[in-house]
Amino acid sequence: MSFDLVLIGGTGDLAWRKLMPALFQAWRHGTLPAGGRILAVSREDMDSAAYRVWLQQRFQDLSGPTRPTAEALAAFTAQVHYLQVDLAQDAHYPALRRWLKEPAAQEGRADGPAESVVFYLATSPHLFPQVCRQLGAIGLHGPEVRVVLEKPLGHDLESARAINRAVGAVFGESQALRIDHYLGKSAVQNLTALRFGNALFEPLWRRDSIASIEITLAESLGVGTRGDFYNRTGALRDMVQNHALQLLTMIAMEPPASAHADAIRNEKLKVLQALKPFDAASARRDVVRGQYRAGVCEGRAVPGYLEERNVPAGSRCETFVALRTEVCNWRWAGVPFYLRTGKRLAAGTACIVVNFRAVPHPIFAGPHPANRLVIKLQPADGLELHLLAAQGPTGTQALAPVSLDLDFDHAFAEDRVGAYERLLLEAIHGRLNLFVRNDEQEEAWRWVEPVLQAWREDDAAGLGPRPYAAGSWGPAAASALVARDGFTWAEEQ
Ligand code: BG6
Repeated sequence: MSFDLVLIGGTGDLAWRKLMPALFQAWRHGTLPAGGRILAVSREDMDSAAYRVWLQQRFQDLSGPTRPTAEALAAFTAQVHYLQVDLAQDAHYPALRRWLKEPAAQEGRADGPAESVVFYLATSPHLFPQVCRQLGAIGLHGPEVRVVLEKPLGHDLESARAINRAVGAVFGESQALRIDHYLGKSAVQNLTALRFGNALFEPLWRRDSIASIEITLAESLGVGTRGDFYNRTGALRDMVQNHALQLLTMIAMEPPASAHADAIRNEKLKVLQALKPFDAASARRDVVRGQYRAGVCEGRAVPGYLEERNVPAGSRCETFVALRTEVCNWRWAGVPFYLRTGKRLAAGTACIVVNFRAVPHPIFAGPHPANRLVIKLQPADGLELHLLAAQGPTGTQALAPVSLDLDFDHAFAEDRVGAYERLLLEAIHGRLNLFVRNDEQEEAWRWVEPVLQAWREDDAAGLGPRPYAAGSWGPAAASALVARDGFTWAEEQ
């Protein structure tokens, strides 16, 4: 299949850190369709040859399998081109059209316009409306065209709607691909496979057998060089509104009737609509917001959030959120779902823990920790099923915890596919399953808004986030949140 993939923001961080390495991996895996062109677009003054050299230099900073040899890079970058376009200038767009559509100007392909054209908007979202409008104005909005929208997609419901309206005025919903890179992670693919490809778990996947569910997205990193962006965003918008809620929908949704994108997205939307809404009281009772102070993280002394570069003095921005919610439907009524995310926590780990109910009538001696299924997303993806087994010679006196561990890297020895690699290929092929529909995104914003509102009021009253030491698991109030229902977070079990 012939394709043109246009990376708008082609010299930005996302392009060289994530997107180009992902495309290189796809090329290396032989999954990038032959006959495609990758066009990096930005304001910088250079040509394709200079861009390739620039890219090569950037790739030197990468490590692991994404760091190519010089020969591999030369072969890959033969498909990569560069065009200087300032997308803030309407007059610059026709050059883009010429490059993509006019045979005479077609660098790198002899057989005419591509069957699939993808514009990846890895740029500031304030440019999205203008880019979409101009792409429409120059006729680059036909059925073969798709736009990939990188987060942040708005900072509240109203701004998200404004972006969706502007995109929707030019492109149909099936042409607008909203990225949530968590949906591209192998572990998330495996979650769907676990639930709907196996008969074993689904009968247990409900309130009768499950006591609680915990989703933890913990990072040991701080805000690094992104202090300015992060301070305008905070953990609720950066991680909960999108990544954590998407994982929650995948865990809680009803089995879809088919693997068709809208069959799945309809079910995910119903979960978001069933989330227990927050009000002013529950936003304070059931949500903990924290901010890291200096501490020791993974053996290294690190500064507090307020000492980070580009963070304004006295900022009340949250770097940690833990919350309790429920999915108010027949399957999940009364089962607490705990979401937790933060920077500078004790470990960089992401997992979903399904806590099963205890046996109804224990006949063995000793404590009976309930079964647990841990779906691990990071640092490696895998599954752990925690069970109890008989211990000791008689076999009936005491039970000991044992676990069945599945390491997907080991199980699938071949090179694994990364999140951005998977999502870029899905975009090129026009498959929508792993992208977020506008109504899902808006529903997620609607749900977090009362929390944002409560925090604005708290800020005005001088009540900021709770401090926690870098390298810890967040404020003590997060443990108290789950302890209220008789639970502990996974690392405390
Ligand atoms: C991004 C957030 O969406 O996800 C970052 O903006 C965060 O703040 C990142 O670090 C985490 O992604 P991952 O794949 O490293 O868990």
